[in-house]
Amino acid sequence: MLKVAVLISGTGSNLRALLEAASDPSYPARIVAVGADRAAAGLAHADEFGIPSFTVPFADFASRDEWGEALERELAAAAPDLVVLSGLMRLLPRGVVARFAPQIINTHPAYLPEFPGAHGVRDALAAGVDQTGASVIVVDDGVDTGPILAQERIPVLPGDTEDTLHERIKPVERRLLIDVVRRIATGELRLDAPAIP
Ligand code: GRF
Repeated sequence: MLKVAVLISGTGSNLRALLEAASDPSYPARIVAVGADRAAAGLAHADEFGIPSFTVPFADFASRDEWGEALERELAAAAPDLVVLSGLMRLLPRGVVARFAPQIINTHPAYLPEFPGAHGVRDALAAGVDQTGASVIVVDDGVDTGPILAQERIPVLPGDTEDTLHERIKPVERRLLIDVVRRIATGELRLDAPAIP
């Protein structure tokens, strides 16, 4: 049974989808911890499902590295097999990535390598494209530059706002994420194997 820790910063709708999937006994992974870099609303989902959670407020630390060290300690205490970033709006310090890589994956609301970074939805709208997407990638030291594990195209509709487009993207992200975690748990998807060309 794959032990998964999830890191969030926001509403945690993707986290909730994982919690619901993992509450099915046939799903080969379980969430062992939920962490946040602030008092994220999504932590309530962990409480509802009885999953331990922790908060490492970025604002409480003098530097990103000190924050990262505290986050790494909390994550290590949960001893996860996989770390999922799902709405964590912080770049992880190199030390955290190095500690858990390649068993760290991230969901992103764009069709990477298009529109990386913290505003993928807003950037796609601003670019005037007629389609964007959702992606699940392995986290490396770059900004959304890791190997792509799954992605899917999503239309941008006339009149879309950042919110309407993001809400159309999120269900696709959740479906991709749940499937990628399942495939990692079954061994079908190996993160330490070189990506198949
Ligand atoms: C998701 O689209 C995620 O990819 C992005 O922020 C959003 C988080 O949404 N980084 P939620 O907190 O899971 O509702």
